[in-house]
Amino acid sequence: MKTEVISTARREEAGTALGAELIQNGELVAFPTETVYGLGANGMDGEAVNRIFEAKGRPNDNPLILHVAKKSDVKALWAHVPKLANVLMDTFWPGPLTLIFNKADEVPYEVTAGLETVAVRMPADKTARMLIQKSGVPIAAPSANRSGRPSPTTAEHVLADMDGRIPLILDGGPCRYGVESTVLSLVGDPTILRPGAVTREMLEAVIGPVRLAPSILNPLGEREVAASPGMKYKHYAPDASVHVVEGEPKPVAKRIRTLYYDLEADGKRVAILGTEQTMPGYRNMNAYSLGDRDDPETLCQSLFRLLRDVGGDCDVILAEGVETANTGLAFMNRLLRAAGFSRERV
Ligand code: TXA
Ligand code: MG
Repeated sequence: MKTEVISTARREEAGTALGAELIQNGELVAFPTETVYGLGANGMDGEAVNRIFEAKGRPNDNPLILHVAKKSDVKALWAHVPKLANVLMDTFWPGPLTLIFNKADEVPYEVTAGLETVAVRMPADKTARMLIQKSGVPIAAPSANRSGRPSPTTAEHVLADMDGRIPLILDGGPCRYGVESTVLSLVGDPTILRPGAVTREMLEAVIGPVRLAPSILNPLGEREVAASPGMKYKHYAPDASVHVVEGEPKPVAKRIRTLYYDLEADGKRVAILGTEQTMPGYRNMNAYSLGDRDDPETLCQSLFRLLRDVGGDCDVILAEGVETANTGLAFMNRLLRAAGFSRERV
């Protein structure tokens, strides 16, 4: 299969029209969102949804998110719309917040991986919404990477993973946030299953206390598997192995320099993912800045891109960990998973 790439800067109308036609015919289309690129199929067609799992090599017990073009679309997807959901949709949609609630009968089990709940989000990206609207159905879409790889934040990343496996990629340029949406379950007490750009702090300002699933910063415990199936798989792994060093900038940089020279002496090709605050300490070393420690949104924006770009050319990545307040939580959640929880604190 030939994979066509259409730039939405130049051909948004034509690109989304072709995309909608493919979606209606049960085919797959990769499209930009404000978080990461999605790999979409008709969310009401179980067979089309199964193609997503095939193209990604994704385990079929990991449920997908349904993407909608307007808030009222949730009525057809959930058993009913809980009050809390209305408040959250009014505050954060369109945007990087996914809400989980009991599914309506019409939602196929292929989407929910057999669960009685379904995840829904309304993306802020204009192209994404145009594609959904023209398709006339909710679009089921995971991130458009091969399973286990870092999520794609550019069309080039999607092409690297999906060339020849899907007919169309809509290229909308780099994604604004760079990490996937916040996933919030509204079944029982509101609980964040995956942190994102809509932070716990932002949610609590609107609806009061919000729980964090323990697996966010730890390997998944046996008892959590049912509530958060996605967290049990190996995630975001670049070709290189990743080790995380957490703490204050100065001691972190000192420890990373020591590890770097030791690994190099062992014949390993090493790269450092540092921060603006520590880059001066890595002069003449193979080091890249993730962004500003005081503005973790910048770290989120570059993490997956650097894991892909740098991870292909080295054996070991030494990465700095940061505080987990605000979007620092989303950053650390992705980084620790990419590292398989190889971490130390100095
Ligand atoms: O930003 C995003 O959310 C991107 C873009 C494309 O919208 N999508 C994305 O999808 O990240 P995916 O499939 O890579 O991640 C969906 C996450 C998984 O961790 C999955 O386990 C969880 O949401 N999830 C989906 N439905 C669920 C459900 N019913 N119950 C619990 N977790 C669910
Ligand atoms: Mg994913």
